[in-house]
Amino acid sequence: MQNTLLELQDLTVRFGGLCAVNKLNMKVNTGEAVGLIGPNGAGKTTAFNLVVGVYKPSEGKVIFDNEDITGLPPNEICKKGIGRTFQVVKPFGKMTVLQNIMAGAFVNTAKTQEARQIASEVMEKMGLQSKRDKLAASLTIPERKRLEMAKALATRPKLMLLDEVLAGLNPTEIQDAVLLIKSMIKDGVTILMIEHVLQATMAICERIVVLNYGQKLAEGTPEQVTGNEEVIKAYLGDDYA
Ligand SMILES: Nc1ncnc2c1ncn2[C@@H]1O[C@H](COP(=O)(O)OP(=O)(O)O)[C@@H](O)[C@H]1O
Ligand SMILES: [Mg+2]
Repeated sequence: MQNTLLELQDLTVRFGGLCAVNKLNMKVNTGEAVGLIGPNGAGKTTAFNLVVGVYKPSEGKVIFDNEDITGLPPNEICKKGIGRTFQVVKPFGKMTVLQNIMAGAFVNTAKTQEARQIASEVMEKMGLQSKRDKLAASLTIPERKRLEMAKALATRPKLMLLDEVLAGLNPTEIQDAVLLIKSMIKDGVTILMIEHVLQATMAICERIVVLNYGQKLAEGTPEQVTGNEEVIKAYLGDDYA
């Protein structure tokens, strides 16, 4: 039987008159990689912010690991095992790569030695060892995206929320990043990823949820979703078919 790791129940948030996420119901099973796609402004990033406690939902629930975590503050949700990257990457520019990743590790340990150990492992996995003592501000875009994933990985998440980590990368860099994400999945991290780079999303995810105007428009395998008339109309465009 499949084990549900994350479940969103009628998740809703209103900003003034705008319903940015509207009665969203979805599940992510342990070990799965799920894609969250849809037009700009559909509510994808807002849905992430509801899951990690940046926003409190107006209605609905977030269930993680069989526990109702709705409305908990972000630091507690992070400790429970949800990591996230930011669409607009935010490294601590005046800190080194190692120090940035250690900041993630400190979520679960107060010991500097242990944090350095965790950070070193993650740094190696993300191919950032050679940048170890570089200031984060000096990194290239693809390196920053990898650092963003490394910081989140250092919090040792069960579930990783990736918000457009492939945006701004060239095809070779995308291929490299896809391999890194696949290696995370192999290591046992469950993935929910927002992405516009569809081919890469399809290569990683076994299931895709499509959002439009805050609501779920479709859900299914990559083939089902990309063949769905409504998804083509709202997001993919006729050229895609
Ligand atoms: N804090 C906020 N206050 C008001 N409106 C917001 C806020 N955050 C997001 N929105 C609005 O919610 C909608 C969904 O935004 P977002 O979740 O960023 O979309 P996506 O990530 O799918 O492109 C947009 O119309 C956006 O302007
Ligand atoms: Mg977004």
